[in-house]
Amino acid sequence: MAPLRDCKAWQDAGLGLSTASNEACKLFDAVLSQYATWRNDENLGGIEGCLSKLKAADPNFVMGHVIANGLELIGTGSSVRLNKDLGSALKTMTTLSRSQPLTEREKLHVLALDMFARGQLPKACDVWEQILQSHPTDLLALRFSHDTYFYLGYQIQMRDSVAQVFPFWTPEVPLSSYVKGFYSFGLMETNFFDRAEELAREALDINRTDAWSVHTIAHVNEMKAEVEKGLAFMKETEDNWKDSDMLACHNYWHWALYYVEKGEYEAALTIYDNHIAPRLLSSGSMLDLVDNSSMLYRLHLEGVKLGDRWDNVLKHAKKHTKDHVLLFNDAHVLMSSLGAKDQKTTDELLTTLQELAKDPGEDHELSLAPSVGLPLCQALVEFENGNCDKAVDLLYPIRYQLIHLGGSNAQRDIFSQLLIHAALNCKSQAKQNLAKCLLRERDVMRPNSPMTERLIRRAAAVHSVA
Ligand SMILES: [Fe+2]
Repeated sequence: MAPLRDCKAWQDAGLGLSTASNEACKLFDAVLSQYATWRNDENLGGIEGCLSKLKAADPNFVMGHVIANGLELIGTGSSVRLNKDLGSALKTMTTLSRSQPLTEREKLHVLALDMFARGQLPKACDVWEQILQSHPTDLLALRFSHDTYFYLGYQIQMRDSVAQVFPFWTPEVPLSSYVKGFYSFGLMETNFFDRAEELAREALDINRTDAWSVHTIAHVNEMKAEVEKGLAFMKETEDNWKDSDMLACHNYWHWALYYVEKGEYEAALTIYDNHIAPRLLSSGSMLDLVDNSSMLYRLHLEGVKLGDRWDNVLKHAKKHTKDHVLLFNDAHVLMSSLGAKDQKTTDELLTTLQELAKDPGEDHELSLAPSVGLPLCQALVEFENGNCDKAVDLLYPIRYQLIHLGGSNAQRDIFSQLLIHAALNCKSQAKQNLAKCLLRERDVMRPNSPMTERLIRRAAAVHSVA
């Protein structure tokens, strides 16, 4: 890793920071590096360790407040509504920013976080774009916007915002290989699979521990249903990314997906038990929670007996029943309360979401609750109660709107699978026909998928019995 940048180094890079403390500048770089690489580096003291030292080095350093608050808001899925300390931390940041001369870029960073905290995610992205237009190597603006586009399901923007600055990320710019990884992910989500894989491999040639570039290749193999290639790649590279504490669980989730695809459920459960469940236990992070729910729910749809595994997931998910920060996360919390048959938690999640959806104010996510979030949650409940007709009636009309809940194409595929399983379990000929239509569509978009072939065989068998 390049030496951490002091005041002069940031100034020379055209990204001057308003602090006289070289220590604060270096710690800002240390936090940024760990965020960009998805890895808490113990040699640096981890992100949390660096943030507290950063605060001590210069309590009035506005960009220090920006990176701390931004990571809390964007990285952990917290919100001002849920976390009063975060609310006051944001106020402190804003007050500080008004009490000292800042660069235009720094002022825009404060504004973007203010927008994000108000739930105005698209407007926050506009502000980060404004920064990037004049400061293409501002990695914090690039990554915050990248993550926010991901939450919004704005796949094209996620790709193009990196494309616009990509030529400036020449090899001598610190962390430039990781920007190849960001770009490759946007390309992959917009189906430029070959270019995405090429760039991810270039990034891995520079730094093989880049877990995000490994992740792009895992997606390429997933989207193309290249199951054997996918399995071999994860096995070959495991030692390089397994210590990426922020992403390893998710990469293991991708690994287990190939086994679900193949119908090798025991192998998927082994990865779940050895890597996915324990990582949630140690991190408690939202991404790890989503991966746990998502893996168990897919196995549940396939009819696999899961024992008491949902109970452990629910222990973590319960804390987020009333979050409603991202509807995508809500749906995954709900999967765990349904899986663990905890009616009280299920009711609590739905009623609190309904309540907030009545008056979403300027909150972008909550404004999607009545049209997308709630019907999706209700469909999950109806399916669990055996009301498959109702589940289809709720889910089918919104299937092209689900992208607005964000997440990756691979993650949202769980909702497509749910719709197909619900339609397959319906008695009416019309819904059976719908299941077959959806399966034909799936087969064309993702040929040679063993799961699709299994479901097509099942649909044909149901038809012949009827
Ligand atoms: Fe992924």
